[in-house]
Amino acid sequence: MNFENLQVDIADGIAVVTVDRPKALNALNEKTLCEMQQAFSSFAEDPRVQVIIITGSGEKAFVAGADIAAMQSLSATQACRFAKLGHEVMRSIEGCPKPVIAAVNGFALGGGCELALGCDIRLASENARFGQPEVNLGVIPGFGGTQRLARLIGKGLAMEMIFTGDMIDAAEAHRIGLANKVVPAAELLDTAKQLAARIIGKSPYAVKLAKEAVRNGLEMDLARANQYEADLFGLCFASADQKEGMQAFLEKRPPKFTGE
Ligand code: CAA
Repeated sequence: MNFENLQVDIADGIAVVTVDRPKALNALNEKTLCEMQQAFSSFAEDPRVQVIIITGSGEKAFVAGADIAAMQSLSATQACRFAKLGHEVMRSIEGCPKPVIAAVNGFALGGGCELALGCDIRLASENARFGQPEVNLGVIPGFGGTQRLARLIGKGLAMEMIFTGDMIDAAEAHRIGLANKVVPAAELLDTAKQLAARIIGKSPYAVKLAKEAVRNGLEMDLARANQYEADLFGLCFASADQKEGMQAFLEKRPPKFTGE
């Protein structure tokens, strides 16, 4: 895959997507968003890819937000279209049938925090900073931040971050559940790859259905969500992975999953 603003490296079942605009602290412009969308639509069908990691180029930023220079002169209609493009990208990440890990290696601000929120798991380096500073620019979060941040860390904390625009450090992000784990910057990518490798050892079919169950179930009331989980649990029993997983357990040997 050849992109202008993204670098994609695929090895050992892991696609590492690096947002690569270091001069603008990896800010997301339209081109970068379109490339991200293209990359994710190819990952869904690519048998070489089982887990995706998103990170930022350089040592300073994951993504410092949507590109302010590119947004400055947008009309209301154009701005709405730009936000919808951002939403589509986050949906393509959330809807990707494979797990997506954000390796947050510095500033994750505005659209960058929202990109991390679109991922399934967030790992942070010790120098990571999270924030929704849009109110400093006279706008509100536009790539899902008002919704996903509140769902992840709760309404009160999300309101505080969004109203003040304050950044929080990695330790605070970890404390409030925004980051799953904090590691030294030099270890971040390896830690993300180790986590990816642990997931790759599991049944790809079960991991895919688990992602669907958690993601879609969160949008339902509990009774419907539990019914949905039961349906997907049943579906597992039509898979080769379930037969192999349970047989391997009973034969006291490691399973060989095919993802089917
Ligand atoms: N868009 C465009 N360019 C950006 C950018 C952004 N979001 N963030 C940083 N840059 C550029 C700077 O303009 C600067 O470019 P020049 O060298 O050409 O001047 C370069 O990246 C380096 O940035 P700084 O010199 O500002 O670096 P710093 O270390 O002094 O500060 C920072 C770092 C605190 C992250 C600061 O750059 C900053 O506050 N950036 C903006 C963060 C922000 O407001 N993000 C939200 C954007 S709005 C949004 O995302 C809306 C949405 O929800 C969709």
